[in-house]
Amino acid sequence: MLVELLEKRGLYGRTVLELGCGLGGLSLDVVTRGATMATGVDLSPVAIREASRLAVEAGLAERLDFLVGDGARIDLPPRDVIVLDKVICCYPEADVLIQNSVRAANSTYAFVLPFSSGWQGILARFAIRVENGIRRVRGQPFRAYVHDVGRIEGRIAKAGLERVAWARRLIWYVAVHERLSQESHPAAAVAHARGGRELGGRLRHETEGLGPTEAAGTARARTG
Ligand SMILES: C[S@@+](CC[C@H](N)C(=O)[O-])C[C@H]1O[C@@H](n2cnc3c(N)ncnc32)[C@H](O)[C@@H]1O
Repeated sequence: MLVELLEKRGLYGRTVLELGCGLGGLSLDVVTRGATMATGVDLSPVAIREASRLAVEAGLAERLDFLVGDGARIDLPPRDVIVLDKVICCYPEADVLIQNSVRAANSTYAFVLPFSSGWQGILARFAIRVENGIRRVRGQPFRAYVHDVGRIEGRIAKAGLERVAWARRLIWYVAVHERLSQESHPAAAVAHARGGRELGGRLRHETEGLGPTEAAGTARARTG
């Protein structure tokens, strides 16, 4: 779903940085769909070793690069597209992770994370509580989190990006943002130049279907 949205916005000839890449499936996917190259970063050395092996096996090692690191702490290389697919919910300090990674986005910032409000938010909190309970019983230290989506949207908007596409898949909120000032996306530049009234209309459209917290976060960031 996320890759399809990215492809619609244009992946061809672009560079991609995937944080929390795991085994690198999405990175591999974007280069097969025309991205020039992709870099995957993950906390897990085991995952990175396997991702590198799979890239060689697929004959795409020259366009794929995998490294171990904490996306919230390391100096990230700037790329056209930054992707975090079900990663923010695996990290306790969402604000730090967003702040560090959004800087690296030349153009596009996309993520998948659980809804935090509405019925999807209730379902997400329940599912994650159950999963965390199972991990606790098994003695596994890893925990998942339901971070406030409105707050995250607000941070991204403050960094100068606006949401251009989004989708819902059960408990998952999928969103693609692009830099407002980016000239290679005339739609964004033209809409921005038209000013307040239209912005209000677009904001209403954008927030349709979002829970009140998510919508409020988007609106706050635009007006604040
Ligand atoms: C649920 S998995 C998702 C993996 C992959 N994106 C996917 O959808 O298949 C979350 C991954 O994010 C990684 N991760 C969590 N926080 C991270 C961080 N701050 N920096 C880099 N990787 C991180 C974890 O090690 C794990 O591999």
